[in-house]
Amino acid sequence: MAVKSIWVLCLLSLGFCGVADQGKWVKCLSLLSTTPTEIRVMWLPLSPQHSHGTVTRYRIDYSPLDQADQVSSVEVGGNDTQVTLQGLLPSWPYQLRMAAGTSTGFGLPSDWTLHRTPEQQNLTSVLFAPTELKVRARMYSLHVAWQPPPNSSQISGYKLQYRELEPVPKEDRPAIQPIKLRKRNKHYEITGLVPDHMYEVEVWAYNKHTEGYAAVWKGRTERVPTTGDLMNIPPVSFVQASANSSTSIWLRWEKPRFSTVRIISYTVRCSPAGLRNASLVSYYTSSAQEILLGALKPFTRYELAVQSNGLEVDGPFSGTVEESTFSDRPSTPPADLQLSALDSSSVLVSWRPPLEPNGIIVEYRILYSGNSSQPDYQWRSVSRDGLITSTEVQGLRSATRYFFKMGACTVVGVGPLSPVKDIHTPSERYELDIPSVTGIIVGVCLGLLCILLCICVSFRNAKRR
Ligand SMILES: *[C@@H]1O[C@H](CO)[C@@H](O)[C@H](O)[C@H]1NC(C)=O
Ligand SMILES: *[C@@H]1O[C@H](CO)[C@@H](O)[C@H](O)[C@H]1NC(C)=O
Ligand SMILES: *[C@@H]1O[C@H](CO)[C@@H](O)[C@H](O)[C@H]1NC(C)=O
Ligand SMILES: *[C@@H]1O[C@H](CO)[C@@H](O)[C@H](O)[C@H]1NC(C)=O
Ligand SMILES: *[C@@H]1O[C@H](CO)[C@@H](O)[C@H](O)[C@H]1NC(C)=O
Ligand SMILES: *[C@@H]1O[C@H](CO)[C@@H](O)[C@H](O)[C@H]1NC(C)=O
Repeated sequence: MAVKSIWVLCLLSLGFCGVADQGKWVKCLSLLSTTPTEIRVMWLPLSPQHSHGTVTRYRIDYSPLDQADQVSSVEVGGNDTQVTLQGLLPSWPYQLRMAAGTSTGFGLPSDWTLHRTPEQQNLTSVLFAPTELKVRARMYSLHVAWQPPPNSSQISGYKLQYRELEPVPKEDRPAIQPIKLRKRNKHYEITGLVPDHMYEVEVWAYNKHTEGYAAVWKGRTERVPTTGDLMNIPPVSFVQASANSSTSIWLRWEKPRFSTVRIISYTVRCSPAGLRNASLVSYYTSSAQEILLGALKPFTRYELAVQSNGLEVDGPFSGTVEESTFSDRPSTPPADLQLSALDSSSVLVSWRPPLEPNGIIVEYRILYSGNSSQPDYQWRSVSRDGLITSTEVQGLRSATRYFFKMGACTVVGVGPLSPVKDIHTPSERYELDIPSVTGIIVGVCLGLLCILLCICVSFRNAKRR
């Protein structure tokens, strides 16, 4: 319904006289132009006592005022109450009149009425309808929201009007006046409505010159829920997870806001993130809007979702949220500890990372001792970076039985130590120390050379004598 009120011309009591059988009648004829080239003609139906017979058609005659001899006519059915004349000249005076007809023919037409079509330029001041009209229907209210019309700079505010369409309201019900809203208002809550009734809502912009085109919504308020509707518990909102320890996560949520069903408890679904294995999904029940989920794995990402439970039905699960438990000490030792002697004083130690590291391994600690019944703190220890899986332990005594064990550390601390393994370092005599052997050989050779020289020298001297 696009009404530019300034162009509405309600011609009351114009003495619209004479139809079939000269019946006298006075009616309201409204003329309005929504564009410069159109006139919409509207009238109220003629009652049978005035028409002296059933009106089967209406005829509208019109012509430009300066060409009174070029009258055009349109005919419409007897049940019609309006017609739009098109293809007219802008800013031009027109004369119009109307006649009603029964089966015996047309009666006398009314007197001529004048109407001027609007100017073309005035279109630029047209206020368009608000955009994105959205109505959220509830049982007793409608929440109406909209966005400003294009070219909204000239508006002073909005007007909102609503009416009941179905069941058809009684005629004596007072019309609801449009509600005036400020320009910054973009939504309005219509309250006090009846469930499951049909309503029409119109919103339009206005300024001091004109009223804009209206955006229209028609629809029903929600039904009062019956047992069949119990299936509609909405999901819970604002699910929030926060890790409490390496094995527990707090989960909190808000109850569904528009639930028509009393919620008795909640079901929480918990599964390691990314794993799609039903046997790894756990369910917990809570009657409060929070739960501490325990017995979880450290340093593991979990997917969590919450469902509301009514007496007989369950709502849908909420969207999932993810949270990781904190890291912890490793719960298993490094695996596959292996030892091999490199020489009489060093041993190569190698291993694999623990199966359950419960975090990022930052360090490995290797303990070794010649006496396996000593307490741990009396063992000697070396630390190695968490990224490596083998290292050399030096400075050992030869021909000795050594015992080794090791643990892995996260930022939280060191995990359990591996089972003890032992190794014998070899004894030194089986080793060739190349530099000292060379030294000895060179020394012996030099000694022999000296002796030979001495023998030669003393042999010569003896000959001379
Ligand atoms: C007018 O409406 C009535 C009731 O809806 C119908 O019986 C009649 O045939 C209609 N007349 C015309 C001319 O359309
Ligand atoms: C627009 O229309 C109004 C009234 O209909 C008139 O007073 C005004 O002069 C028109 N504006 C222009 C620019 O023609
Ligand atoms: C809308 O605004 C633009 C520029 O702001 C202008 O060119 C255009 O004529 C306006 N249209 C209407 C119908 O007011
Ligand atoms: C874990 O939960 C307990 C009990 O609510 C609380 O006192 C503690 O501060 C929580 N710890 C963390 C790290 O959130
Ligand atoms: C799911 O996990 C269980 C227990 O960890 C395992 O036995 C089963 O093979 C897994 N199934 C699939 C399809 O991965
Ligand atoms: C090994 O250590 C234990 C405990 O410290 C001690 O009682 C024992 O005498 C030690 N054995 C040797 C051979 O040193």
